[in-house]
Amino acid sequence: MIDRIGEIYKEIESASLNTVEELESFRLKYLSKKGMISVLFDEFRNIPPESKKQTGQKLNELKQFATEKYNSSSSFLKKQEDKLTVSDYTRPAFPYPQGSRHPISIVRREIIDIFSRIGFVVSEGPEIEDDDHVFTKLNFAPEHPARDMQDTFYISRISEEDSNPEDVLLRTHTSSVQVRVMQRQKPPIRTISPGRVFRNEAVSARAHCIFHQIEGLYIDENVSFADLKQTLIFFARELYGMDTQVRLRPSYFPFTEPSAEMDVSCTICGGKGCNVCKYTGWLELLGCGMVHPNVLEACNISSTKYTGFAFGMGIERAAMLKYQINDLRLYFENDLRFLNQFRTAF
Ligand code: PHE
Repeated sequence: MIDRIGEIYKEIESASLNTVEELESFRLKYLSKKGMISVLFDEFRNIPPESKKQTGQKLNELKQFATEKYNSSSSFLKKQEDKLTVSDYTRPAFPYPQGSRHPISIVRREIIDIFSRIGFVVSEGPEIEDDDHVFTKLNFAPEHPARDMQDTFYISRISEEDSNPEDVLLRTHTSSVQVRVMQRQKPPIRTISPGRVFRNEAVSARAHCIFHQIEGLYIDENVSFADLKQTLIFFARELYGMDTQVRLRPSYFPFTEPSAEMDVSCTICGGKGCNVCKYTGWLELLGCGMVHPNVLEACNISSTKYTGFAFGMGIERAAMLKYQINDLRLYFENDLRFLNQFRTAF
């Protein structure tokens, strides 16, 4: 029996345990209930008592040796396997499902990018504002209808009848951010303010109570309406293509004088007339104008030394014209059939 034990010992010593399969057949062959070592233990009961001591010792050594070899190979193989799953850079990539940017983010980034190329820096401000920054400093008369409850979400209103500079409300436009910039910075100022705005309107295909704006402001000595027009032409052509035409129509905003609205030639028919532009060839994009002297003075900027222009647009609107989206609600519903269509945009 001692000789058999010696032979098996050598066999075990030279057994190769490099794969999970080899490991398992090793276990079955030597260490399982019907394995060779168990068989030897069974036979051990019948050997003459004189040789029991020595044989028993050898047998125990054999069992211990086999068990140790099995355990160390098994933990080595396990470690190898773990390593493969984390750091084998040659493995093919997992097909991770990729998300896409929201069209509002795509267009916001694009607009910011266009204006930053001509020196505009991004400024941001609070969504919860006071009447002073949203209306009063922007030359809204005390009884201007935009302050009315029907347009503005008030958080607290000091008096129901009269507006008060301390009323707290959700900003209705990001012009409030520009007021904050003018208050803390001396001209030259060249800034754009992207952000969410809130208006108390019923939700429909053409109106929403939350939307996004980007407003721009440029103040320096000798800034003229021609600068405004040239800046906006540059912008429109960068966003919608070099063939884009623009036109300015006179308009009214309390904070600009003169004021205008800018149309771009229809992004679908190129100005020939189609049902998107209602056969006019034009699509309305933004409001703009020369900053009203009252606004400059209210922000402690000399209106005799400085002039400036401002413009503001809805990002939803700009994206609608770019991607021919015909319902504002699509932006907020997060329907994957809609969002997946923007996978290839950056
Ligand atoms: N603040 C205006 C709006 O919300 C847009 C605008 C900005 C118009 C700047 C003119 C100049 O509609």
